[in-house]
Amino acid sequence: MTFMAYNRSLPVALLAVLISSCGGSPGSTANSPNGGGTTAAPNSSCSGFPWCDTSLTPAVRAALLVDELTLNEKFQLMAGDDPASAANGVPAVGVSNGIERVSLNTVFYSDGPIGVREGDSPTTAHPAPIALAASFNLELARQTGAAIANEVKHYGNDVLHAPTVDVVRILVHGRVFETYGEDPYLTAELAVPWIEGSQSDGILGNVKHYVVNTQEGQVGAPPITGVVGSRFLVNAIIDERVLRELYLPPFEAAVKRADVGSVMCAYNYVNGAPACASESLLITILRDEWGFDGYVLTDYYFAQKDTINSANNGNDLEMPFGLHYSQQRLQNAVDTGLITEATIDERVGNQLRTHFKYGLIDRDNYPTDGDAIDFASHNAIALQTAEQGTVLLRNEGLLPLNAVALTSIAVIGATADEYVNGGGSSAVNPAILTTPLTSIRARVGPDVTVTFDDGSNGARAALLAASSDVALVFVTDNATEGQDRACLNLSCPGEQGQNQDDLITLVAAANPDTVVILQTGSAVLTPWRNSVPAILEAWYPGQSGGPAIASILFGDLNPGGKLPLSFPDSADDTPYANNPAQYPGIPAPDPGGSTFQASFSEGLLIGYRWYDAQGITPAYPYGFGLSYTNYAYSNLQVSGNDAELTVSATITNTGSRSGTEIAQLYVAIPSPGGLPQPPRQLKGFQRITLAPGASGTVQFALDERSFAYWDTANNRFDVVTGCHQIQVGRHSRDLPLSATVPLAGGACP
Ligand code: BGC
Repeated sequence: MTFMAYNRSLPVALLAVLISSCGGSPGSTANSPNGGGTTAAPNSSCSGFPWCDTSLTPAVRAALLVDELTLNEKFQLMAGDDPASAANGVPAVGVSNGIERVSLNTVFYSDGPIGVREGDSPTTAHPAPIALAASFNLELARQTGAAIANEVKHYGNDVLHAPTVDVVRILVHGRVFETYGEDPYLTAELAVPWIEGSQSDGILGNVKHYVVNTQEGQVGAPPITGVVGSRFLVNAIIDERVLRELYLPPFEAAVKRADVGSVMCAYNYVNGAPACASESLLITILRDEWGFDGYVLTDYYFAQKDTINSANNGNDLEMPFGLHYSQQRLQNAVDTGLITEATIDERVGNQLRTHFKYGLIDRDNYPTDGDAIDFASHNAIALQTAEQGTVLLRNEGLLPLNAVALTSIAVIGATADEYVNGGGSSAVNPAILTTPLTSIRARVGPDVTVTFDDGSNGARAALLAASSDVALVFVTDNATEGQDRACLNLSCPGEQGQNQDDLITLVAAANPDTVVILQTGSAVLTPWRNSVPAILEAWYPGQSGGPAIASILFGDLNPGGKLPLSFPDSADDTPYANNPAQYPGIPAPDPGGSTFQASFSEGLLIGYRWYDAQGITPAYPYGFGLSYTNYAYSNLQVSGNDAELTVSATITNTGSRSGTEIAQLYVAIPSPGGLPQPPRQLKGFQRITLAPGASGTVQFALDERSFAYWDTANNRFDVVTGCHQIQVGRHSRDLPLSATVPLAGGACP
């Protein structure tokens, strides 16, 4: 499957012209990383200067260095320096040149959430983050962050533009695959260990995209991308409570719990202000309320909309180079008093303090020694994520397949033999690739005939299926950064490739033993689901998706992933269906520069919150996933007080295979006086591995925040007085255990 080309060259060329007419940004000699080991030598030139004294705090050192810098040098540090990494001879997506005079190294920035993006250099291609989310595995999140950061480091970079923690609002959004799905709690829980892992060995994290970066836009004109409701121009009109409860919590966790070093502000506008120039987002919430002491950098090229508001409202670094933060524009603003020198010092001080804190200034640049990457151990992590993130959506007894009893298998669909991923800045060049077709052949051996058909001709594929014992149909969607999908089906009008929904229907009619293997980046519609006996959702499974899928198909592994997204029955069921004012937005030109307005009028009701509130039955609900065994839930216990509740439950494996269950806890908050509340919200989950017949205990810790709603009048999270409910079970629509807890002085009947 070929994805729409994601091409940076046009914006770069366009902006190169613009920048040359604006005076450009200054540059100094970059300290290019050289070959060698993985650990950088100390920055030997940093001696004798007062800010080089490592016994001082990062804040004091930054202040000393800021005092020493000329105004021009400060301007230079407020913008990146080179949009085309190749020009530096260093594999990086962004560069901020150092200043030799004061022993300041160049800082190199790299993408991204699926693996380090280093041009043609080999990279471990991890499964898309949506697959990691489906594993609900915090330890894997930590290991993935650490492994990607390690490759970032081996390629000579300092800062990693990841993870993406935007909560999914729109299922056709082109970047759903980069996220952890539709629930803010799961997103925050995964983001924290991911960032901790990524910052554990000398790399600075960069959580993105702050905030409500929930659409790319429709009707693309490549390479400029979606134009209707474009991410660059859309203004999200969103209620304060919705922002606080749904979209901000993952960023809040990244700051407060993971101590993330930097935040990438988003392309879009929020309530009229560009996200990269919003006083409320960048100063009031991020710094004053959450205590963020790192720095804010912009998303690339089009996120920064101006000079003065950006500087005055807390945007520290324009990437990848200074258009609005060009030397000349900053100088004019200082000359006219629109930006004070103290503000310039603050912008630069934020960066320097962070770089001192994370050791960037006390060492040389990392050498580029990609050859020394331990690809085998990183691949083991990618494989585990693919295994644990695969979700069994349907199984009417066909799976697992018995390789011994089969003589012939039809493998249908081009993506059975391809690397399947999403397009855009997270796309990587896999170090190795084992496709499903290769893995299936290896698994069944020479005695089983495996015949591949790329599925381009449905009738031909159906003939092959009819003459085979089993048909395995591999299908995908077509997601890319820069443009939202035009529909929620597998194939949308205008996308390349065959009509995959028709292909499935034809094959299933030809052979009742058909398994559909989805390798999609988001939820898709499954209109054919009742005519096939088995469906697996493997997402974009990364470079080792093949072995993971084969192990599950043939029962070497018991699937255990659960959905981090609801799969609707129909596109008309989604919260924003048939309402362009919600999505993709309607034209509403505004003096601030936005031209589309998207009203988040669904409020708190996104994803499963919406389907639950409306009583709509989704095709597959949030948290859903089958196994080759079954689990019984019993013995719910709740103890503790308002500030700290402990909930436990017994899970028993009642089947004949060992397996891992992901137990989930949801809370239902009362609605006194009609205060809107979603029917339930995820507030806990735990993986538990059980042998056949074995029982184990899952335990969840709940605090006040687990039951809190954003009290807009008082500007804080509050717990409502009343009877709250705790529900525990297999997924959002199967919660056999429940208990009530009176909180904040309330009572339960
Ligand atoms: C994306 C970011 C990415 C940046 C640098 C932008 O287009 O939105 O996620 O980090 O490019 O590649």
